[in-house]
Amino acid sequence: MKIDLHTHILPREWPDLDAKYGYAGFVRLDHYKPCCARMMIGDRVFREITDNVWDPKRRIEEMDREKVSMQVLSTVPVMFSYWAKPHDALDLSRRLNDHIAKVVRDHPKRFAGLATIPLQDPDLAAQELERCVRELGLRGAQIGTHVDANRHSGRIDTLNLDNASLQPVWSAAEQLNAAIFVHPWDMLGKERMPKYWLPWLVGMPAETSLAICSMIFGGVFERFPKLRFAFAHGGGAFPFTIGRIEHAFHVRPDLYATDNTATPRSYLAHGRTPARFYVDSLVHEADALKLLLKLFGRARVVLGSDYPFPLGEAHPGELIESLKLGAKENAQLFSGNARDFLGINP
Ligand code: CO
Repeated sequence: MKIDLHTHILPREWPDLDAKYGYAGFVRLDHYKPCCARMMIGDRVFREITDNVWDPKRRIEEMDREKVSMQVLSTVPVMFSYWAKPHDALDLSRRLNDHIAKVVRDHPKRFAGLATIPLQDPDLAAQELERCVRELGLRGAQIGTHVDANRHSGRIDTLNLDNASLQPVWSAAEQLNAAIFVHPWDMLGKERMPKYWLPWLVGMPAETSLAICSMIFGGVFERFPKLRFAFAHGGGAFPFTIGRIEHAFHVRPDLYATDNTATPRSYLAHGRTPARFYVDSLVHEADALKLLLKLFGRARVVLGSDYPFPLGEAHPGELIESLKLGAKENAQLFSGNARDFLGINP
């Protein structure tokens, strides 16, 4: 049994959002031939996609071929729209979440869902999370690695995930027993990376490490001890740089231990205790996956493929299988840990 924590889905269509909300920047789909569409932002092609992004039947065919029993569905991060006016982002989130919930309702054994929430307005985000968990049966939310609040008004407040204003979201998630999957988006330094799609190779791992470090140093895990977080792409740059992060914490506590005295290492696996948070297995390198297992413990690494996008793992679970772990470990990585993270009882 395989549960794939990291897969993205979109509805087949939605209204012209630039026209609906009265300003530009939203994604629209151009279905230029039967199997394929272009995600457009204005006149720019953001990404070419195929029908497995929106068609559950196509997804199930491919899941059956790859022996994936369940996909956890979340939106494509470009849809977060944290830059938009809060009520417009809420309206868009509701549309995307209602769609994910319908796909899950139609195929409850094959799909589980994570919501998207308008994080630029923490109170609205908490309300939408509550609706999605209580009314739609979603398991939690996928959020970005930071928030650009107030961009629509020209005053950009870039908030990392330790920002105190986000407390209503964490409180709601903890009360709802909702899981939070953190996925990099709106990559730092992207203006210096106009070529080679480097924001995906350099920006994304940096974003994810920024999110984890902010939450550790800011004490988010201390304030919300029961809240379950998972980070995409194996935690990005964080695992490989944990030595530097830990060293810095000890030699310059004046810089790093200002808001939280727990060491970064204390959030990782020690003895029989697994790490405080989860990471997915999407690292494309056996030695990197071994490092994740060592740092986080085998109870905190979750199969994630980034289906159906080309930077993902084409055969979900292939890298885990290549390590030739025992049957018990494989069962944890393939499904047990995802169930724990999502709060799905066996
Ligand atoms: Co992804």
